[in-house]
Amino acid sequence: MKLPEELQFIENARKPQKTTEARLDGKLCIITGATSGVGYQAANCLAKSGARLVMVCRNPEKASSVKEELRLKFGTDADVIIADFSRLSKVRKAAEEILAGYPRIDVLINNAGVHFTHCTQTEDGFETVFAVNHLAPFLFTNLLLEKLKESTPARIIQVNSQGHRFGGLDLTDLDWSKRKYNGYKAYGAAKTAQLLTTWEFSDYLIDSGATINAMHPGEVRTNIGMNNGWMYRAYQRYLLRWVLKDPAISGEAIYYLAAAPEMAKITGKYFNRTIEEKPTPQAQDRSLGAQIWKISEHMVGL
Ligand SMILES: NC(=O)c1ccc[n+]([C@@H]2O[C@H](COP(=O)([O-])OP(=O)(O)OC[C@H]3O[C@@H](n4cnc5c(N)ncnc54)[C@H](OP(=O)(O)O)[C@@H]3O)[C@@H](O)[C@H]2O)c1
Repeated sequence: MKLPEELQFIENARKPQKTTEARLDGKLCIITGATSGVGYQAANCLAKSGARLVMVCRNPEKASSVKEELRLKFGTDADVIIADFSRLSKVRKAAEEILAGYPRIDVLINNAGVHFTHCTQTEDGFETVFAVNHLAPFLFTNLLLEKLKESTPARIIQVNSQGHRFGGLDLTDLDWSKRKYNGYKAYGAAKTAQLLTTWEFSDYLIDSGATINAMHPGEVRTNIGMNNGWMYRAYQRYLLRWVLKDPAISGEAIYYLAAAPEMAKITGKYFNRTIEEKPTPQAQDRSLGAQIWKISEHMVGL
């Protein structure tokens, strides 16, 4: 029995995934949040394939330990840029360092993300999940966009989530001041906003040779959510972990999207790891996308 379209993601998660033998020797790949989980796995795949890595991370100790590990395992000399993506000024500074330090960008992977069960605000005054998962990569990508266009062929990968299916995006209440906060819906709102702006970025880049796609990395065992209270942490550590998969599958999927020759011209799509899939109708609403683009521009000060 074939599942209805809105449940197709369940079937897609079980399908055999695509892989590639293509290498990325010498290609400059920037990845945010490489210190843990999905990003750490992707950084390993990229380093293994000879890519030149720039890891944008918030924790200097964790970043230097991953850098050292990649050096020992693959002989990669990854560069580290320290930036807390809950602060837009730090996102801007990271982008400036990249623009000043590197002549081209071949791959940008917007991976850093968080999940909170309770409402918190960043120092800039934004709801944290929306700020880190959507506003920061939105600003970062915009600041690097012309360089990516000059570097074609270039690829941008948005590490998004099936969590966008939780909904929650309300343009009149992005800070959750009018609604009771729901961590899943706040996560859904940020991921939906990111998807909507991905289609806008894609239109802007069309025919430039630079592409942008979004992906769900799988339901995998990582540290996401471990910043929450002890009950959530215990739930994740002792219950969820049994149903979650090895995050290595996420790294492999990101690598496929970054390196596979058959992906060179594909843009503006959403993938369940490597399988193309339709996101929710809300996440495909282009008029909502135009609105969230303008609001996001205003919020990040572009
Ligand atoms: N795990 C899943 O099943 C799953 C499913 C769907 C989507 N995703 C997405 O996958 C991405 C990676 O998450 P993960 O599961 O790998 O979680 P994770 O293990 O917690 O890794 C998240 C990464 O983001 C970094 N990060 C968090 N807040 C940051 C900030 N303010 N500034 C800069 N970096 C920050 C973390 O840095 P630290 O190491 O310093 O904490 C870490 O490197 C996220 O976008 C998430 O939404 C994950």
